[in-house]
Amino acid sequence: METQQILDLLKQVNDPELKESIVELGMVRDVAFADGKVTFTLALTIPGCPMKERMAADARAVLLAQDTINEVEIIYGAMSKDEVSALFNKVKKDSKPSFLAQMNRVDKIIAVMSGKGGVGKSSITGMLASSAARMGKKVGILDADITGPSIPKLFGLPPGGLRGGDAGMMPALTRGRIKVVSTNLLLKEEDTPTVWRGPLIAATIRQFWEKTLWGKLDFLFVDLPPGTSDAAITVLRNLPLSGVIMVTTPQDLSALVVKKAIHMVQQMNYPILGIVENMSYYPCPDTGNLHEIFGPSHVDQIAEMANVALSARLPITPEITAHCDAGTLESLQLDAIDQIVKQLIQ
Ligand SMILES: Nc1ncnc2c1ncn2[C@@H]1O[C@H](COP(=O)(O)OP(=O)(O)OP(=O)(O)O)[C@@H](O)[C@H]1O
Ligand SMILES: [Mg+2]
Repeated sequence: METQQILDLLKQVNDPELKESIVELGMVRDVAFADGKVTFTLALTIPGCPMKERMAADARAVLLAQDTINEVEIIYGAMSKDEVSALFNKVKKDSKPSFLAQMNRVDKIIAVMSGKGGVGKSSITGMLASSAARMGKKVGILDADITGPSIPKLFGLPPGGLRGGDAGMMPALTRGRIKVVSTNLLLKEEDTPTVWRGPLIAATIRQFWEKTLWGKLDFLFVDLPPGTSDAAITVLRNLPLSGVIMVTTPQDLSALVVKKAIHMVQQMNYPILGIVENMSYYPCPDTGNLHEIFGPSHVDQIAEMANVALSARLPITPEITAHCDAGTLESLQLDAIDQIVKQLIQ
């Protein structure tokens, strides 16, 4: 039997995920035939591909249906990194726009990033979203902090609030009708630790973006984990961002590491839309004096370095902490946040 005949037979076998023939996808290699036995290598996109058994079984069924073939040996191989990315690019180009791609219209996607952890990214993401929603905008939040999600807690959303259907994932809704997607809404217990590996984190972020029924949104805010982690890079690579809001605090270390994050964003050709210095000062309720308890502000210097016109300073106040802890962030209104959102709307 000729190699071409065997390939023609194997064209009937599809990769169940990519829904294309394993031959067209370039997964069938080193085909040989001798004494009624077919041998070939099935090059997988990922070495432990869960679909491999099914593809092998389908291939065996197709081949063994021939009178001339009485044995099939399949050797599992792996595609190189370059081959995998070429394959996915081809599949992306060929595929028709999905139902979701037709339903979702997201006007501005804004990622909230920092150099250092714990500077208030998630709180600020929540406040920006709440402010935009109060101004009548349609708003969503994608919690890209997969292993340390905190958005649902800030809005008092219980775990398990995401629903899925054939069409895609339905986001949870806050009181102010902000659409939220977060791993914390997938898990049954709120404090179940999520120990995930990098590739899974990237895949989850992509799914949150691609497989969610976001509908029509004016703003989608993306809350990132701290620093220039893989998750941040996944978001920068895969989401069509309008730009990034950078959060820092007055401490020297925070100001230093935020510069690294700014460089990364600029290197990837995204604009920095604004710099927010959180916990910038404490307004003393007794005297009205502003105390710079974490040291003098660096925000102007950072904004100049990043060439950004929009910068803001947020106070450290017990109200912010209290609203974050109580899950009532939506009822907190801060002028500085409203000012930023007005600029983003323009
Ligand atoms: N300006 C502020 N005044 C008072 N408390 C604040 C302020 N900003 C943030 N907080 C408190 O600090 C906590 C931590 O902030 P948040 O979770 O937003 O930081 P983060 O940068 O997202 O952290 P991580 O890097 O872990 O994701 C919040 O729960 C909130 O209670
Ligand atoms: Mg956070």
